[in-house]
Amino acid sequence: MPASVVLGTQWGDEGKGKITDLMAENADVVVRYQGGNNAGHTIVVGDEKFALSLIPSGVLYPTVTPVIGNGCVVDPKVLLDEMATLRGRGIDPSKVRVSNNAHLIMPYHRKLDAVIERFLGDAQIGTTKRGIGPAYMDKYSRFGIRAQDLFDLKIFRKKLDAALKDKNKQLTKVYNSLPLDLEEIYTEYVGFAEQLADHITDTSLIVSDALAEGKHVLFEGAQGTLLDIDHGTYPFVTSSNPVAGGAAVGSGIGPKQIDDIVGVTKAYISRVGTGPFPTELLDETGDRLIEIGGEYGVVTGRRRRCGWLDAVALRYAVRVNGLTEIALTKLDVLSHFDTIKIATAYDSDGERYTEFPRQQRVLYNCTPVYEEHKGWGDDITGARTFDDLPAAAQDYVHRIEELAGIPIRTVSVGPSRAATLKRA
Ligand code: GDP
Ligand code: IMO
Ligand code: MG
Repeated sequence: MPASVVLGTQWGDEGKGKITDLMAENADVVVRYQGGNNAGHTIVVGDEKFALSLIPSGVLYPTVTPVIGNGCVVDPKVLLDEMATLRGRGIDPSKVRVSNNAHLIMPYHRKLDAVIERFLGDAQIGTTKRGIGPAYMDKYSRFGIRAQDLFDLKIFRKKLDAALKDKNKQLTKVYNSLPLDLEEIYTEYVGFAEQLADHITDTSLIVSDALAEGKHVLFEGAQGTLLDIDHGTYPFVTSSNPVAGGAAVGSGIGPKQIDDIVGVTKAYISRVGTGPFPTELLDETGDRLIEIGGEYGVVTGRRRRCGWLDAVALRYAVRVNGLTEIALTKLDVLSHFDTIKIATAYDSDGERYTEFPRQQRVLYNCTPVYEEHKGWGDDITGARTFDDLPAAAQDYVHRIEELAGIPIRTVSVGPSRAATLKRA
């Protein structure tokens, strides 16, 4: 298995951090291919809990080279802080490599993210306010500043000056906010350049060489399929491509070099921020999923919205990613429910939808068609093989496999590495 992609099939927070960390044990290189520090990936090792936001989840293994690919947006201060935190906890981040072509998040991106959200009022997306959207906006409008620009200060200053003139106009004239100072940003980023000099390089070459040598490369998606800018619930999405296709573009390899695509799927579903959510539970059951599942954001601490597993959306994720298998997480959370539901279709205006609807409007006003499963009641956090699971829990897993049309090869029953059941 030389090259695998691990990505989320829902609206993020599926447990990608845990699954990536597990798979990274056999990997040589782990690459983040999109997003930035909007992600919050939790990894539990023994009694220790790590919350990673920008650095790939493979960093905990000294044998892994963690790569932040060209498809990511990088806030240099966050990167340096995250490396310092890891160092403080005995993890050596010196092997972290950042693509020369990755775009930088600048102070005006963070500020614009906040003021644009305020300006949108009721229509706001509920972003993480980390400057992700505005940084990608600059990338695509060709106003962006790339990591490599930090090493040609004449060019860096010229680009910064041009960008800042435009941003300060926006900030002051459109958003009634204060302008930012060129010298201050310039000095701060020159400082970052010095500290990041050994880390910024041609990461496409690192990944290609590793693949050519038959090494194991893992591509780690952030966010999830339904937050994808093209395939998600636009505009309530993030500004990049978490889907599997993004792994090739965002790391600088060809699509034929990818062998396996693992979709991480929570045994129920959650969403942070605004946007349609057919199976959302706004009742006591939803509250219990949030509390028992510990569904609070890693990055922003926000309470996540929760609901039953949506098999229509899951089949869609299988299709748009070309998934080859599923890793099912947080099955243990469902032990606390007498009845567990799965949405297999949506009903809207007299029509039944078994495929993800063409018109997004349907997602707002549809009624999910649920099938009910009997809960198993027993605590399953101690299970270590699939056969240890009660029959009803096994049936639930088999049913999801059937609905998705692909195998579930990993079942997670707790946050730790040990609480994982592998299947052939
Ligand atoms: P990510 O963004 O996809 O990496 O997921 P998050 O880290 O944001 O959220 C997943 C949360 O669930 C974290 O707190 C994990 O430690 C936890 N977790 C992962 N797998 C399991 C599991 O199988 N059972 C339980 N109870 N918690 C899990
Ligand atoms: P991980 O990798 C859940 C959501 C935000 C918001 C929308 C746009 O931990 O699964 P952005 O700041 O990206 O412009 O916000 O996307 N969002 C996430 N939701 N998990 C994430 O990452 C997310 N990253 C962004 O809440 O709705
Ligand atoms: Mg998360």
